[in-house]
Amino acid sequence: MKSFEASMPSNIALIKYMGKTDSEVNLPTNPSLSYTLNHLKTQVRLSLSDLPNDTWEPLNEGAFVAPKLSKFGVDRFLKHFRFLKAQLGLSQNFIIQSGSNFPSDCGLASSASSFAALTMATFNAAKEISGSDLNLKSLAMLSRQGSGSSCRSFFSPWCEWEGERVELVDLSLETLPHNVVIVEAEKKKISSSEAHRRVPSSLLFRGRVERATQRCELLKSALIDKDYSKAFELCWAEFWDMHALFETSSPGFGYMTDKSLKVINLARDYWDSHGEGPIVTMDAGANVHLLNSPQGFIKSPGLSEFTII
Ligand code: DP6
Repeated sequence: MKSFEASMPSNIALIKYMGKTDSEVNLPTNPSLSYTLNHLKTQVRLSLSDLPNDTWEPLNEGAFVAPKLSKFGVDRFLKHFRFLKAQLGLSQNFIIQSGSNFPSDCGLASSASSFAALTMATFNAAKEISGSDLNLKSLAMLSRQGSGSSCRSFFSPWCEWEGERVELVDLSLETLPHNVVIVEAEKKKISSSEAHRRVPSSLLFRGRVERATQRCELLKSALIDKDYSKAFELCWAEFWDMHALFETSSPGFGYMTDKSLKVINLARDYWDSHGEGPIVTMDAGANVHLLNSPQGFIKSPGLSEFTII
């Protein structure tokens, strides 16, 4: 049977999308700014099928390993696929296979690359079958409705998303090395969609839009100026802001573990003693993302107990 494929990257937000003004279509409360992780990808293959419904199957091929999707996860993926088919004029049924070249569901934003790849693969099918034609921004906005952060994966290396606007940001910067310190490879207990639902209950949510908007502008300027020390400071404040929202929500929850704290404190100490260091951020998970990290930091004895990818 004929098949259609796409592979799309993940992204890491330095200014976080956290909180929605419309959770039906994933409109964010505040602007976010991300760096596209072109080495962390999800591959989706769509094969025309005679079955009465669309079905999902794991894709385990080469470097790509299928996520362990719950029934809810499969249903969510299939729901987005039905939405895409309706938007792009496809009526056939398909077998959808997906797999990523990195561990899923542990703060590495696998939903971003998965939904982006599903959107792109469906577009590739629709181009050939129904003659659909859409630009990247429109595709990103369709993808957003499956999972918000996936819309930023369509633009590389820097992307800004605010409301219905998603675009490439020119920071005149070379690509920056990215690493993740894996402190926890288990599936997280509170999904990011649930985190979005809970954070407005925090008293700290007041002023969040203003803080994120201001940090976003300051961070773009710092990156344009290659002022990595300022960028570190802004990103540090931003991920703590988000994690403080988690902890002070009702009911409160959290992802930070002793090991996460150990890694981020090592990074701060490294800045203090070397005058340089990595830009650090954490998503809704325990793992620690490092951008532009000096090799000296990656090789620190304190990090030797962790897997770094
Ligand atoms: C903490 O895009 O996963 O990673 O729109 O409900 O699918 P849904 O949420 P999702 O949220 C990502 C939240 C975050 C921060 C970010 O990537 O900006």
